[in-house]
This record gives sequence, structure tokens and C-alpha cells, in this order.
Amino acid sequence: MSSGTERTRLIVTGGGSGIGRAIAVEMLRGDRADVVVLDRDGDAANATLNALGDRGRAAIEIDVGDPVLVTEAVEAAVGALGGLDAIVNCAGINIHEDTVSATPAAFEQTLRVNVMGTFFCSQTAARQMIKQETGGTILMMSSTAAFGYVSGLGPHYTASKAAIAGMATAMAGELAPQAIRVNAIAPGPTVTPMTDRLRRSLTREELARYVPLGRFIEPAEVAQLVAYLVSPAGAMISGQVIGINGATTAFAAPRRVRTSSDA
Ligand SMILES: NC(=O)c1ccc[n+]([C@@H]2O[C@H](COP(=O)([O-])OP(=O)(O)OC[C@H]3O[C@@H](n4cnc5c(N)ncnc54)[C@H](O)[C@@H]3O)[C@@H](O)[C@H]2O)c1
Repeated sequence: MSSGTERTRLIVTGGGSGIGRAIAVEMLRGDRADVVVLDRDGDAANATLNALGDRGRAAIEIDVGDPVLVTEAVEAAVGALGGLDAIVNCAGINIHEDTVSATPAAFEQTLRVNVMGTFFCSQTAARQMIKQETGGTILMMSSTAAFGYVSGLGPHYTASKAAIAGMATAMAGELAPQAIRVNAIAPGPTVTPMTDRLRRSLTREELARYVPLGRFIEPAEVAQLVAYLVSPAGAMISGQVIGINGATTAFAAPRRVRTSSDA
């Protein structure tokens, strides 16, 4: 694992957009990491790479749901970085279908990308870290949806994020003897292209109900949490599902929206 004085050799999947891109950029601060970006959108991956300057080592276009391509891509990333200290799995999709309309194709695709893709990338990264005998850090993106119903997210997306929470704890237990830490981050609604439609549709009152602290989370805020978990300060944090959600999961019943007449 990185000592804190050396740069972290980091892979970010889904680094072409949203939270993944913010993580890649955040890790530039203080010269903390060399980064390889993996994304199925090659142009977006290259755009992030260009924003990283010297610290960006490669952009690789890849579908994380294909285990053969994942093995090749992680090997190429390890070559570009000279090893591997951390991987952050941000590649994910959300197909908007509800319980009644959900199709087998959408269900399968969501699990293939969100769950199996996260697993293939993490497994390949873990094998490399074990070979290096250095330990390392694996992070994956769960969601507030893993803890309870979030309207609009649908059964397949919700199932995939609950699966990621479980997968992180299982992998953390299995990989602890090799000093590999595994955690899931569970963001609430975050300002990214994935939530564009939702953000545009919410009134101010609805937003206050949706996120008790009154606004969506910024991708940079998730990125700062990631930077902490990757750093030596996070050395004893493993097997956790860590929420960053503006108190979204703090209420068991619908909240009364505060008004100006409240004292
Ligand atoms: N935005 C939110 O409110 C929110 C909340 C909780 C969890 N998340 C999770 O965080 C992660 C990042 O979400 P985001 O909001 O930044 O989304 P985003 O759509 O902005 O970015 C996702 C990235 O993943 C890439 N990607 C999609 N499928 C891929 C595949 N098969 N192979 C490789 N790359 C692929 C996309 O090209 C894109 O660059 C996702 O796993 C998402 O489910 C997001």
C-alpha cells in the first residue's frame, strides 16, 4: 500500500464522467496519484486523461462487463503505472424501468455491468496486488438504494447496488490476510449526468424531502471521501458500506418539509 509519500498507482473505472472523473481529478491534488482511466466511452476517457496532465498514464476504452477485456485492460494499466495500489470502480449504468416494465435484457445488462463488471475489475486488481505482496485498496460504488426504496431507481439498479454492498464485505473478509482493504461507498443523489433528468424534474420542496440536507452531493465531495479511504488515514477501514447522502437514510418515515413559519 502507498506510504503516503509515494504516489498511489490508481485505476478508475467509469473515469470518463461524473463521480469517476471527479475522483481522477481529486487525486491530482498534492500529487497523490498516477491514474489510468477505464471507460466504455473512449472519447470521455481521453478527455479525463487530458485533464490529468503528467499524472494521467493511460485511457483505455473497455466494457467492464467483459472479463477477458478486463484482464487485458488491467494488465495494460499495471504496465502503464508500474504496479497497482488502488482501484475505484465507478463504471455503472441505470436503465430507467420500474417493476412492471422491467425487461429481462435490462435486468441482465444492469447486473452484468454494475455487479459483474465491478467484480471482474476488483478480482483482477486483487490478483495483481497479491502478486506484488503490497496490499492495496479496492473501492466500489453502491448507493443509498442499497438501504431502502428510492423512487425512480427501479428493481434491477437497486438489486445491483445491494449486491455491491454484500460483495464488498465478502471480498474484505477474504482479502484481509493479504492486506487488501475493500469498501463500498454509497452516495445519495449526486450531481452527474446520471441524475440530470431527476434534478431537472424536482421542485425545491421535493428536493428538501429527497435530500434532508437540501441539495445534491457534489462529485468532488465523493472524491474527497475516496481520497481519504485510499490514503494511510484509512488503513483500518475495510468491509464497510460508507454513506455520503445528506441524511437521506436518516428518516424511517416521510419528512415534513420545513417552512418559514416553523420556529
Ligand atoms: N449519480 C448518483 O447520484 C449516484 C448515486 C449513487 C451511486 N452512483 C454510482 O456511482 C457510479 C458513477 O455514477 P455517475 O453518476 O458518475 O454516472 P455517469 O453516468 O456520470 O458515469 C458512469 C461512467 O461509467 C461508464 N460506463 C458505463 N457502462 C460501462 C461499461 N460497461 N464499461 C465501462 N464503463 C462504463 C460511462 O461511460 C460513464 O463514463 C455508478 O456506479 C453509479 O451507479 C451514482
